[in-house]
Amino acid sequence: MTFLVTGATGTVGRLVVEELLAAGRPVRALTRNPAEAGLPEGVEVVAGDLARLDSLAGVFDGVEAAHLINFAGDDYRPLPDGAGLVKLITEAGVRRVTVLGGRAEGDLEQALAAADVEWTLLEPVEFMSNTLRWWSQTIKTEGVIKEPFGDRLSALVHERDIAAVAATVLAEGGHGGRTYTLTGPEAITLREKIAILSAAVGREVRFVELSVDEARAKWRADGMGEETVEFLVGALGDTPEAGYTVVPTVKEITGREARSFAQWAAEHAGAFRP
Ligand SMILES: NC(=O)c1ccc[n+]([C@@H]2O[C@H](COP(=O)([O-])OP(=O)(O)OC[C@H]3O[C@@H](n4cnc5c(N)ncnc54)[C@H](OP(=O)(O)O)[C@@H]3O)[C@@H](O)[C@H]2O)c1
Repeated sequence: MTFLVTGATGTVGRLVVEELLAAGRPVRALTRNPAEAGLPEGVEVVAGDLARLDSLAGVFDGVEAAHLINFAGDDYRPLPDGAGLVKLITEAGVRRVTVLGGRAEGDLEQALAAADVEWTLLEPVEFMSNTLRWWSQTIKTEGVIKEPFGDRLSALVHERDIAAVAATVLAEGGHGGRTYTLTGPEAITLREKIAILSAAVGREVRFVELSVDEARAKWRADGMGEETVEFLVGALGDTPEAGYTVVPTVKEITGREARSFAQWAAEHAGAFRP
């Protein structure tokens, strides 16, 4: 029996693959583009598109447990037929499922709740890896971060801890029907985050605090659409309590302390140096 990972070329999925391999589990990885997957040796890479169920024939055959994303496409739209996907999964006899929770609101979770399968929803707060995506270029070239809400608190979580929880839940079972909020070990402000990153990089990163309107203008100039701009204003300006409340779930599930942002920054410092 094998373990299927969707989103396997993404930030979290790639690490779910690594964690399962490290635990000695056979892994099948789904991608729309196997030629560019760049996954480790030993992984069975299969082609398929979660938005087209007819492309998934055989993908779940012989699968004991599956890690699912709940979106399709590079703009993170909800899966067009989550219920159809769940039907494929249950008909193939998959016993356990983890779902990486996110913004996409489709019918996947509802269908899983009604299905005869042990499933677990993982609800991570802000990923530490966003730092790489959003800040590496500007820190490299300008040494400055321009953002609003300098005192905003976040309990940001290391993406490897999300993956470690997923791999443990998939391999061990016994977590069916649970929703796990996943955070790092501390809540830090944006200013503190920049100071930690500066120390790791070995170079001062300046912080320029923008007003909300200045931030809107900057994000539009960066090419973001109105919907994303307003999502960011809401998410960053009025972070829900869960986003800055530390919970012990990573340690409870994996037996390891959640990784800190200082650890993340030390691992990735090179990506922020010119
Ligand atoms: N960033 C955060 O702070 C944060 C916080 C909480 C939750 N989340 C949630 O985390 C999720 C994003 O995870 P991530 O950052 O690991 O993803 P990511 O790095 O953006 O990678 C996207 C993955 O989705 C796959 N994919 C996209 N469309 C597909 C399709 N139609 N069929 C099959 N595979 C498809 C891609 O695979 P291929 O291109 O190889 O096909 C790729 O592996 C979202 O649901 C988001 O809401 C993010």
